[in-house]
Amino acid sequence: MKSICNKLRFRIGILVLLSAIFMQGCEETERRSFTEDDLVLIPKPKNLELREGSFSVNSETKLVLAEDSLQIITPIITDLFDQAAGFQLQTVKETPEENFIQLKFNSKLGNEAYNLDVSNDQVILESGSHLGFVYGLETIRQLLPKEIESQSFVDNTNWLIPNVSISDVPQYSWRGNMLDVSRHFFDKEYIKKHLDRMAFLKLNTFHFHLIDDQGWRIEIKKYPKLTEVGAFRVDQEDKHWNARAENDSNAEATFGGFYTQEEIKEIVAYASDLGIRVVPEIEMPAHVMSAIAAYPWLSCTGEAIAVPSGGVWPITSIYCPGKETTFEFLEDVLTEVIPLFPGEYIHVGGDEATKTNWESCPDCQRRIREEGLSGVEELQGYFMQRMENFLAENDRTLIGWDEILEGGLPEEATVMSWRGFEGGWEASKEGHDVVMTPTSHMYFDYYQGNPDNEPIAFNAFTPLSQVYKFRPVLDSMSTAQKEHILGGQANLWAEYIPTEEQSEYMLFPRLTALSEVVWTPEEKLDWNAYARRVQKMMERFDIMGINYAKSAYAITPSSKINLDSKSIEITMEAEFPDQQIRYALNEELNNNSPVYENPISLDTSAILKAAVFKNGQPMGTKLEKEFVFHKGVASEVDYKNEFSDRYKGSGETTLVDVLRGSKNFHDGRWQGWIRRPAVVTLDLEENKSVQDIKVGTIEHQGAGIYFPQNIIVEVSTDNSDFRKVGEMDIDFENNPESLIKDFSVDFEEQEARYIRVSVEPRSFSGRRGSWLFIDEILVN
Ligand code: ACM
Ligand code: ZN
Repeated sequence: MKSICNKLRFRIGILVLLSAIFMQGCEETERRSFTEDDLVLIPKPKNLELREGSFSVNSETKLVLAEDSLQIITPIITDLFDQAAGFQLQTVKETPEENFIQLKFNSKLGNEAYNLDVSNDQVILESGSHLGFVYGLETIRQLLPKEIESQSFVDNTNWLIPNVSISDVPQYSWRGNMLDVSRHFFDKEYIKKHLDRMAFLKLNTFHFHLIDDQGWRIEIKKYPKLTEVGAFRVDQEDKHWNARAENDSNAEATFGGFYTQEEIKEIVAYASDLGIRVVPEIEMPAHVMSAIAAYPWLSCTGEAIAVPSGGVWPITSIYCPGKETTFEFLEDVLTEVIPLFPGEYIHVGGDEATKTNWESCPDCQRRIREEGLSGVEELQGYFMQRMENFLAENDRTLIGWDEILEGGLPEEATVMSWRGFEGGWEASKEGHDVVMTPTSHMYFDYYQGNPDNEPIAFNAFTPLSQVYKFRPVLDSMSTAQKEHILGGQANLWAEYIPTEEQSEYMLFPRLTALSEVVWTPEEKLDWNAYARRVQKMMERFDIMGINYAKSAYAITPSSKINLDSKSIEITMEAEFPDQQIRYALNEELNNNSPVYENPISLDTSAILKAAVFKNGQPMGTKLEKEFVFHKGVASEVDYKNEFSDRYKGSGETTLVDVLRGSKNFHDGRWQGWIRRPAVVTLDLEENKSVQDIKVGTIEHQGAGIYFPQNIIVEVSTDNSDFRKVGEMDIDFENNPESLIKDFSVDFEEQEARYIRVSVEPRSFSGRRGSWLFIDEILVN
């Protein structure tokens, strides 16, 4: 633009007005400078200096490539310009005088490192490696206006890159993400889209969880039934994952899918172009019911089983290491898998095997005797060692979940520490490489916001700020141990992820937090600064069409009851810091609602609405919560059957404190009873006129928590003579969700001081007892 502008300035002055307008545009192009706040880079680069001015990409801008092989990665930006800017960046070999983006080799830069220097006339990206160029291009992409992500032509945009000088290199070499494609299958196109997004965040390892009980997802030519049978299950998607019935082994199985070997090659090649290694996981000895359904001789019993449609626990149907045929099978499978995945690592699972069948299997017992093993734990060690030997013969490194530590760790194994950091600590102490992926920070199947407002997920909590707290290395590690920590990885188990939209929702924005904590030096990590950037990054995600979660904007209220004054105090905050929260009591929430500053006090029923507001718009899910005061608030409660030690709520006032349990039944508000009724008597302190009792309950069939089967209400004025005034029976219904419901027993108005409520748990013939959860008994 610069030279055209200069020429224009010397043109005759007839079109003064027009040229003045045009020049204004041009000067803006030349002079526009940026502030640190304008830079929305995730992960934050190791070193960045921002200078005055910017480089403008236009249809004349040339892309100068050090060599032709770089053509495979330039689409990271050229495709964006094709679509959004409506022009192509032409590739040339000779460096022009100005207006170019040059990719230059610099052998002094280590693997993954890059330097980027942007000035008014040129952009120089230097790297010594394919990966470094990928990351440099992704940085250029993130420096461009977010509209560059548009799938269609965007008019009137200056494609400016701020003048920066960046030298960047990652902190950790393993920056991973695992997708579970077994519990729900995701097709090749989604995987490729996800790989693009991983590269966007400079993640370099895609852990492909191809096998689990509920589906075998990779074609193995020698064993066609693995996919013919193992890739499909009976469709029970209408039920909660953990409430799905066992399938008959010859029932029609229609739900599933798999990748052909050609598709796998395509995915791996696609990833490789983006600098991403693919680590396939071929699970063993457990999490393989899909394989056993196809070939029952792989198990100890040889019994025919079906591919399960949902959760199985404990997992006892596992491979038999007593039989040589099992190892022949696994070596055959790996012989087909290895050439498809040229990377160093093959993941062999190793987690969660319940070895009761090994205890009673004559073949397994013979193996234990012949190999001089101490028992079934060492038999797993033997199993893994054989696999490692085979992989080593094929130039591959075995990686497995931290359970592989238990039976004796194969010599060269790398450990993926998921049950906390301890396994990783131990393994690094023993001199093994480690990838940290603890449930506490890295399990993205967990809720990221209040379960009341979130789609169903695994019943635990990993909000964005928790991900940002993840550090792969512990202070308690020696220098030698720290050197064995390769990095970190986020895992998205897919039990509750039936769609791509849901997959994106659970991954984003949490993956951005992972990306930063494994790339950026620890001393530069700053939650507040990241929180500002990720909010702007979300605007880019809107254009990229990513269905990211806005849960960090959601307001979490917390409340306390004052039993003497029978009032409650409510405090509110969002996860993102420094947000403007507006709230409304019993009225509509809008841009003029009061701004929340201090705790809100309530002593009568009210509906509280609140949201974070930004630019006059509510962000994320609005909070809407009803606080119901009733005649039983703060009354004394007498329990005939004590609630369970595990679910005590907040003690003896739990059922009469206005505050209600959430869909997270672990939230400390619910009281639980197992296999026996809840029988509670409320003392209202004086006779009151009553006509309706509501019992607040939760159902979570996957966790064995059911709505009650029956409720009886009796009343008394003297606490000895009780009259039954109402009863209700409740029918069972299949329910895949976590659901809160108040069951109302109403009756003719009468005077009573004592209210006895007997709540019968649901009973099932021949099944273990179900849980009954109650929070709040409302008296009116
Ligand atoms: C795991 O979550 N079972 C590795
Ligand atoms: Zn066996």
